[in-house]
Amino acid sequence: MIIKSLAIRNFRNHTSKSLSFNPGINVITGPNTSGKTNIVEAVYYLSLARSFRGVDDEDLVAHRAEYAEIDSQIIEGELKRNIRILITKKGRSVLINGKKVSKVSDLAKCVNVLLFEPKDVLLFRGSPKERRNFLDINLSKQFPVYLEYISRYEKALKQRNELLKSGNYDENLLKATTELLVKYAGPIINYRAMYVKDINDILIKITRALTGVKEKIEIQYRPFVVMSADYQTVALEAFNRSLDNDLKHKATSIGIHREDISVSLNGREIGTYGSQGENRLVALALKLSPYFMIKDEDKKPIVVLDDVMSELDETHQKRLIDFLRKFSQVFITGTELEIDGATHIQLNKAKEVF
Ligand SMILES: Nc1ncnc2c1ncn2[C@@H]1O[C@H](COP(=O)(O)OP(=O)(O)OP(=O)(O)O)[C@@H](O)[C@H]1O
Ligand SMILES: [Mg+2]
Repeated sequence: MIIKSLAIRNFRNHTSKSLSFNPGINVITGPNTSGKTNIVEAVYYLSLARSFRGVDDEDLVAHRAEYAEIDSQIIEGELKRNIRILITKKGRSVLINGKKVSKVSDLAKCVNVLLFEPKDVLLFRGSPKERRNFLDINLSKQFPVYLEYISRYEKALKQRNELLKSGNYDENLLKATTELLVKYAGPIINYRAMYVKDINDILIKITRALTGVKEKIEIQYRPFVVMSADYQTVALEAFNRSLDNDLKHKATSIGIHREDISVSLNGREIGTYGSQGENRLVALALKLSPYFMIKDEDKKPIVVLDDVMSELDETHQKRLIDFLRKFSQVFITGTELEIDGATHIQLNKAKEVF
């Protein structure tokens, strides 16, 4: 899919801006604070109705404005969709071809954006939550039922933690919520295991293309309980064993909400042993890998790479650009960047040129 046009009003520092994009590579350049990241933030917002910068909607509304607006044309094969989002300080509304939609999953079906942002360099060094988010977001986009399991699991987890916190809980109720956790964790483990397995080969190919070196790379997922025919019994036993610990800490200490994935490069864990450059390239490869999981050409995601180039040496920049030429549509931001055959959009700090 591609985003043909984007009009934003009162979105962050952009009072009013209309841009048109092309298939292939689109380069957005401009000095620091000219609003490059803000533009790709609007592009990303079209896919999940939330910012990737972990802020509240109201922060997206330009200072002193009442609401922000994103209006765009998305093309998926023969299909053309208009997506319009209004963000007010009280909430947001999403219109697809003029019809209001309330579920984010309906929006995610129409716009799929893969993002690499500067802080992703720390993907393997930071907290497991970021890595779980990667799995959860991509699995939810591909299998909406996965999101359903995650929501149910989280609801049960909240209940269980409340019981643990109360200090004076009903044993049957605790047992019932634990059983629910086990029930929903089962399919989640299966989905995660399948996804990680499928992604491994893709990861090897992308890393090879980006580095030019044949390295041994392996992604690993360790579920809190290994899936087997007697999963239910084993999982319940695991929860029982950790009950004392859970009561002491007033929180559920095991489960799919505590799981993690790791990547090893030539047998060593990248987060612990990898150089900054290796971390950057492998994180980038992982973030791009869902692109190759989607087989339907019309549904290939839009890729956004915010500020990825500046830290790469010339050879790696060239390799990355050559690799990105095969993609349906890519947005790359940078202060100075020129790519042959790409669409260039220059932002101006002092005076808006568009
Ligand atoms: N709600 C808002 N209203 C008005 N301005 C905002 C708002 N939120 C952020 N800004 C401003 O937007 C400006 C541009 O931010 P942005 O992160 O897009 O810049 P950038 O071009 O990506 O810069 P860099 O090259 O440093 O990454 C910043 O100066 C910031 O203060
Ligand atoms: Mg930026």
